[in-house]
Amino acid sequence: MSIDLAVVPVAGRGTRLLPLTKSQPKEMLAVGRSPVVQYVAEELHRSDIHRLIFVTGPGKAAIENHFDTDNELIQHLRETGKEEILQDLSFEREDLEFFYTRQRQQLGLGHAVLCAKPLVGDQNFVVALGDSILGVSAQSQVVRTMVEQFEQQGVEAVIAFEEVDPEEVVHYGIAKPKGDVDAVFELADLVEKPSVDEAPSQLAVAARYVFSSKIFNCLERTQPGKNNEIQLTDAIRMLIQDGGRVLGVRLPETERRYDIGSYERYFEAFAEFALADPDYGPAFRAAIEKLL
Ligand code: UTP
Repeated sequence: MSIDLAVVPVAGRGTRLLPLTKSQPKEMLAVGRSPVVQYVAEELHRSDIHRLIFVTGPGKAAIENHFDTDNELIQHLRETGKEEILQDLSFEREDLEFFYTRQRQQLGLGHAVLCAKPLVGDQNFVVALGDSILGVSAQSQVVRTMVEQFEQQGVEAVIAFEEVDPEEVVHYGIAKPKGDVDAVFELADLVEKPSVDEAPSQLAVAARYVFSSKIFNCLERTQPGKNNEIQLTDAIRMLIQDGGRVLGVRLPETERRYDIGSYERYFEAFAEFALADPDYGPAFRAAIEKLL
């Protein structure tokens, strides 16, 4: 059976977005009209992923509430003649199943993925970061392509990459490709946040992964690195060193990754989605133009 399971880590503290994230999850911040994590769930649904395991942590209950079907609210909207608003809740009716587990200590992204091991077992699975939207107006199909490559080529992992400006490499895990870089390419290694001079490419890890369950074994052997965190990048490097084949899939030129983890990127993402809004975009554009 094709992969239909995704782990969505949402347990991070979001310290770069304080004070906004003091009592609300960054994954619930609005980008245009929806919270970030709703775009992530809708993107996965479009790629035929129907079971989502959220790895949550302290203060993240709003995420669970968001995906519950709220019958009282639906009833209220019907009784008060606001049925047209019901379509804004259509994401509640998508055939998605939600599972939740906790990361009891925030020991990094790699550790968050490892927390899902008891629920994933030996299945192949997708990892989609809960603070990153893919696509333009969130219509990405890249996870579908990644799953196809994973299944056709029998590899241990497939990672999405986005080409970034040379000075941006210092913020991301960067691909060291083996041979030529095409839409799909093989990875020789990954370098975490290299300097501009040392970066082996400008291809930055873009928040989506497909893994075989071998990644858990690597995560279990990964020593804590910076900030005492278990890094997913280190476990992927171990997978490659163990002889596992790992592929990269480049985001098509028409697609972007919106990582809302810093104010710089969050403001940019909000503005872009608000401008693209079919109902409110034109008025927003006029208001911005007046301000500039
Ligand atoms: P980040 O790398 O942005 O880390 O997380 P963070 O801790 O949330 O944010 P800062 O650095 O304090 O501002 C990327 C994704 O991984 C999840 C986050 O929730 C986010 O979706 N994550 C990160 C975890 O689930 N657990 C962790 O321990 C760290």
